[in-house]
Amino acid sequence: MYASMLTLLALASKTAFALPAPAEQTAGVPLPAHTIFQLDDTLPNSWFENIAVRRNGDLLVTMLMPNASIYSISEPLSGSPKASITNIDGANGLLGITEISPDVFIVAGGQFSGIAEPVPGTMAVWEVDFRKEEPTTRLVAKMPEAGLLNGVATISRCSSAVLIADTGMSRVWRVDTVTGAYEIAVEVPEMLPLANATLQLGVNGVDVRDGYLYFDNSNRASIFRLPIDKRGMAVEGVEPELLTKLTHGKNMDDFLIDEEGRFWAATNSDNTVEVADGNSPSVVVLGSPSELTVAGDTALAFGRTKADKNIIYVVTGGAVANPVNGTLTEPAKVVAIDRTGF
Ligand SMILES: *[C@@H]1O[C@H](CO)[C@@H](O)[C@H](O)[C@H]1NC(C)=O
Ligand SMILES: *[C@@H]1O[C@H](CO)[C@@H](O)[C@H](O)[C@H]1NC(C)=O
Ligand SMILES: *[C@@H]1O[C@H](CO)[C@@H](O)[C@H](O)[C@H]1NC(C)=O
Repeated sequence: MYASMLTLLALASKTAFALPAPAEQTAGVPLPAHTIFQLDDTLPNSWFENIAVRRNGDLLVTMLMPNASIYSISEPLSGSPKASITNIDGANGLLGITEISPDVFIVAGGQFSGIAEPVPGTMAVWEVDFRKEEPTTRLVAKMPEAGLLNGVATISRCSSAVLIADTGMSRVWRVDTVTGAYEIAVEVPEMLPLANATLQLGVNGVDVRDGYLYFDNSNRASIFRLPIDKRGMAVEGVEPELLTKLTHGKNMDDFLIDEEGRFWAATNSDNTVEVADGNSPSVVVLGSPSELTVAGDTALAFGRTKADKNIIYVVTGGAVANPVNGTLTEPAKVVAIDRTGF
């Protein structure tokens, strides 16, 4: 592992992100949004895959291509955020990230030979500790049986274990981050890709709340939940419940659940952010298939400070897997969506 400080890589917008006054009625769509950070043209095929936010407000963005890097982006709304990079040894791509204890994060990754083409036997899990000024990394577990580790979720404040979606094996693993021991936690047909999909992707994002594992299936553009026990294991004999299927997007990457229980979905190849409440038709709040606005968006996260509590950050892979209008791609970026009044 080495960490290097960079000041400011490249920025689409150098103007500060101004927060409008809180709206009383529902905000219209598209919601206001700005690119707050973007890699430059020396990294044309770059792909940001996931995002977590530190309690100090710094964004932690994982990179899937070209390197296994975690970008720490401080002062994200300042108009001139600073980025520093922590690299993980033994991998060239990272995916899910979750906070396991204050300022300590767990990431999944491995070696890739192409887009969504993991080198068999190379998946692993690391801990990245941001408590000291220089972050440190530690290998938690090598998982040669895993196919394509993807979303990662903390089980509870009292648990040192995480749940990790394996898109390659269509299951969710439980990984003890202290001992490195791992076992299958959930494996249900709802995690399988669709047989007729061009790119076979089933279970992708995961979240845990109120005794349930929430997971999405990319090919189905759907979110399910299933009861789990305190250890994070599926309660036996209980079938997953379908919560929502996107009205517009045909694909879903990671999702986020807001205070009202609505699902914010990054649709990746649909180039949109779509919000579903599980009852009424879901709504595209940003982007469109023919726009670069959130092209190839992979994941979202809430701001954690007073200044950005109404902001949702979206990370993108620049439509590298599915160019806009057939040919347009761009370097990976982070977009801030203002959800005030929505
Ligand atoms: C990616 O890794 C390569 C090889 O280690 C290195 O030369 C390059 O600078 C890295 N790029 C970034 C953006 O970290
Ligand atoms: C693929 O299969 C699903 C479910 O079986 C079906 O709803 C969908 O229409 C199929 N898509 C194509 C392109 O055949
Ligand atoms: C994609 O094509 C459509 C239709 O021609 C056009 O309106 C749109 O601006 C194009 N998108 C980009 C990012 O150029």
